[in-house]
Amino acid sequence: MLTTVFDWCKRHIVLFTIASVIFVVMFGFINIQILHMTSEPEFCHLCHPAQGFGPLAEVDSWEHSAHGDAGVSCLDCHGRPGVLGYAKAKLGGLKDTYLQLTISKEEKLEILSNPSEDLVPSWHCLYCHSDEGNQTVRETTKGPMKLVNMRMLDDVVNPEFRERKGLADIMTDDFVGGTHFDHSLHIEDFDLTCRDCHFGVVHNPATATDRMNFCVACHADAGDDAPQINDCAVCHEVQVAMNEGTGIEGIEIPSMMYGDAADMTCTDCHTGVTKGIYRPSSESCTDCHEDEEYKEIFDEWAASTSARIDVLKDIRVELEAALLDADAAKRGTDDVWKTYEQAILNLKFVRNDGTHSVHNNEYTEAILDAVEADFKKAFIQLDSVW
Ligand code: HEC
Ligand code: HEC
Ligand code: HEC
Ligand code: HEC
Ligand code: HEC
Ligand code: HEC
Ligand code: HEC
Ligand code: HEC
Repeated sequence: MLTTVFDWCKRHIVLFTIASVIFVVMFGFINIQILHMTSEPEFCHLCHPAQGFGPLAEVDSWEHSAHGDAGVSCLDCHGRPGVLGYAKAKLGGLKDTYLQLTISKEEKLEILSNPSEDLVPSWHCLYCHSDEGNQTVRETTKGPMKLVNMRMLDDVVNPEFRERKGLADIMTDDFVGGTHFDHSLHIEDFDLTCRDCHFGVVHNPATATDRMNFCVACHADAGDDAPQINDCAVCHEVQVAMNEGTGIEGIEIPSMMYGDAADMTCTDCHTGVTKGIYRPSSESCTDCHEDEEYKEIFDEWAASTSARIDVLKDIRVELEAALLDADAAKRGTDDVWKTYEQAILNLKFVRNDGTHSVHNNEYTEAILDAVEADFKKAFIQLDSVW
């Protein structure tokens, strides 16, 4: 029986070879597809299905986070770099599945409410967010970085990755995310981890007020070298620039509600600061403008700006995908990336200000016009490079 099979194979050697190759490729492909599929957020959603923030809502909170927007996926953070790191994350997934079937709902909630200390350790964040951190990890990671395209993490080579995403090197720059803040001073002198301050990153409902309180509480005890609560401008660099109408090269439009012209400072609007209420609402507009209509102006500014930002975020995703495709086809995209980087830096300036144009409506509109024009320009440039 076996010999007739072998005989048949020998006689049809070409056919046999082709059949084997197809089999191996198909089998490998299916395996990789399974690995791929079980790494996607949609898969995690099966067991982490809640809406909003906090335990069980990890997929939904991620979807609404800056990391989600930028295409940083679950296993980019919850899996270590390299093929071995990826494999280890997959084994961890098997443990998840086993526990899903064996522990109670309450036990699961208990685990998710107390994430372990070393879940996404600081060095892992630094892999993407600093150049030195990236280099060190790349040099010491055992085994190959990647086999096939599985996730963003394995292609992260800094400074290129960082620059293309419009990110600062947090260990060397002291102007990050719109705030004047020296990471290396704070991390090294006070032995803080990323999660001590970025406890809201991706999943948790921590408010910016908690974060500011954390800073000013320590500074209050730290003496005069550290900025105190009334030194708004020292920390909030981007909001100052937005109010002054500077910060973006080539466009300059000061707010009519700030500075010498209007004889106004931050605390004229931020009147609740001494009571720990930092963020004013639309109610604050009528402190100075008698007409109730000014509340509607606030809402109208905020609504139209966030709608515009949403549209631009979608274009960003489309453009970045087109650029990566063009890179894969080895087209000359250097100039197009430059246009793209400029646009996302400008977009980020508006997002970092965080007020949806309340600080300076005219300036914000001008910046978003520039972003839109740069995106258009990049698509045109992309059509013309080969
Ligand atoms: C079959 C259900 C299931 C799926 C699918 C699933 N998880 Fe989980 N996950 C669990 C359970 C149950 C726990 C709590 C027990 C544990 O720690 O394994 C958990 C815990 C976790 C933890 C916390 C571990 C800790 O030590 O605190 C992380 C992180 C996590 N999952 C990430 C993911 C990611 C990322 C995916 C998708 C790639 C995913 N999970 C898919 C069921 C699942
Ligand atoms: C930028 C990195 C990053 C990304 C991307 C990310 N996470 Fe997390 N995740 C964390 C950090 C850090 C923690 C630790 C707890 C905290 O600080 O919120 C965490 C905690 C968790 C936990 C433990 C329970 C909890 O709620 O704290 C689960 C489960 C989890 N993540 C699942 C996911 C899933 C699923 C995705 C993709 C949809 C994802 N994470 C994407 C960084 C990330
Ligand atoms: C795979 C690379 C990668 C990893 C790992 C990663 N990040 Fe990020 N991070 C990014 C990218 C890309 C952005 C840019 C998002 C955007 O376009 O605004 C970002 C943005 C941020 C921001 C600014 C936006 C925000 O959410 O406030 C902070 C803060 C941040 N990351 C902190 C962290 C921390 C803390 C960790 C570790 C728990 C981490 N990152 C892990 C790639 C990464
Ligand atoms: C003492 C508090 C503190 C610690 C510790 C800390 N950060 Fe930050 N980080 C900040 C503040 C403040 C900002 C700027 C305002 C904001 O975005 O919240 C910031 C901004 C960032 C940004 C945004 C940069 C950008 O260009 O948009 C990233 C990324 C970031 N931090 C990563 C990290 C990582 C990674 C770690 C751990 C190695 C870390 N941070 C530790 C306070 C801290
Ligand atoms: C553990 C205590 C502690 C925490 C928490 C802390 N700081 Fe500081 N910070 C200090 C001390 C001490 C100094 C003075 C250091 C010096 O100049 O020698 C300082 C200095 C500064 C300075 C002035 C030095 C410089 O970089 O120009 C800024 C700005 C600053 N901190 C911002 C922040 C922000 C923003 C946060 C919150 C995200 C924060 N700090 C959280 C202790 C802290
Ligand atoms: C020591 C640095 C520091 C000083 C001084 C400071 N802030 Fe902040 N503030 C922060 C940080 C850090 C955050 C959190 C930013 C983030 O997470 O994006 C913050 C957050 C805020 C928020 C957002 C609050 C929320 O819950 O949405 C407002 C509004 C604000 N600050 C206004 C002010 C005003 C007005 C002053 C001056 C009276 C001031 N801050 C002084 C560091 C500072
Ligand atoms: C004309 C009034 C006005 C002036 C002047 C003003 N602000 Fe604001 N600011 C607001 C309002 C209103 C909000 C809340 C916007 C919202 O909720 O969308 C806000 C929000 C903020 C936030 C939170 C941003 C975020 O990321 O959520 C910070 C920080 C801030 N202001 C800092 C400052 C600083 C620093 C100055 C001085 C340079 C300043 N503001 C001047 C009205 C003002
Ligand atoms: C502390 C006082 C103060 C607060 C609070 C304030 N403004 Fe103003 N506003 C001014 C001054 C001063 C001017 C410039 C002089 C002028 O033309 O009336 C101005 C001008 C304006 C203008 C253009 C001129 C006009 O009168 O139509 C608009 C629009 C405006 N403010 C909207 C708002 C909105 C929306 C808020 C709430 C976020 C707000 N203002 C909060 C003081 C204030």
